[in-house]
Amino acid sequence: MRRPVIAGNWKMNILPSELEAYFSAYASTVSEQCADFVDKVVAPPTSHLFIAQSIASKLGVIISSQNVHWEDSGAFTGEVSSKMLLDLGIQYAIIGHSERRQFFGETNRTVGGRVANAMKANLIPIICIGETEEERESGLTEKILVGQLESFLNECEGQGDFIIAYEPVWAIGTGKSATAETAQETHELIRSKLSETLGRNVADRTRILYGGSVKPSNLKEYLEQNDIDGGLVGGASLKGDTFAQMVNIAGEGLLN
Ligand code: 13P
Repeated sequence: MRRPVIAGNWKMNILPSELEAYFSAYASTVSEQCADFVDKVVAPPTSHLFIAQSIASKLGVIISSQNVHWEDSGAFTGEVSSKMLLDLGIQYAIIGHSERRQFFGETNRTVGGRVANAMKANLIPIICIGETEEERESGLTEKILVGQLESFLNECEGQGDFIIAYEPVWAIGTGKSATAETAQETHELIRSKLSETLGRNVADRTRILYGGSVKPSNLKEYLEQNDIDGGLVGGASLKGDTFAQMVNIAGEGLLN
């Protein structure tokens, strides 16, 4: 049984001065009983990490970075390193989000480097993969996903935990979510590639999250699928109470 993860990717949203209000809305909505069964992760912008960590740690919420560099330090303006994150007590980092790939020149090669550095540092990466609409329509989904997986899976061999987020680009911020069946089929493909490359044990224990227009009203149907272990949520994670509702939904299924 894999422990579910509900992860909120804030992207470039929410002000540092709004953090207290966010987490107090979260705290007043979350059910402690449900939350016990769930890994709750929030990824604010880098500027907020220090203060977010000090507030969220009291609530059992894990803070994640939205990125991490492939070097430990150096002349890389605008980047953050695994050492810096760990020094703040941050243990998670999103890597390879499609917005990084689309707007900031992220490639499979740079994703591989970031994953390698994170894994060596014992940071838990949430590694994003996903196909565009044109790729899906041209029947290239499997080829694209396998290529993305191959760019970093070797870096995970013999290392600690990592999380994969399957985020079809056409479902991000569009309100056009993948059906639970389509997502399940793709997650199954990802898990079989994991098994082929890193063995059955790693494939069985690795959490694979679905991302793309996830919200309280559709989360349950994703979580009911065998190979979907949680959600990486953008828009619907921007309010503390809505994020808490999703944590409650993920925990409710495990209460009995
Ligand atoms: P939305 O939930 O807003 O579609 O964003 C998904 C996402 O990109 C999470 O990383």
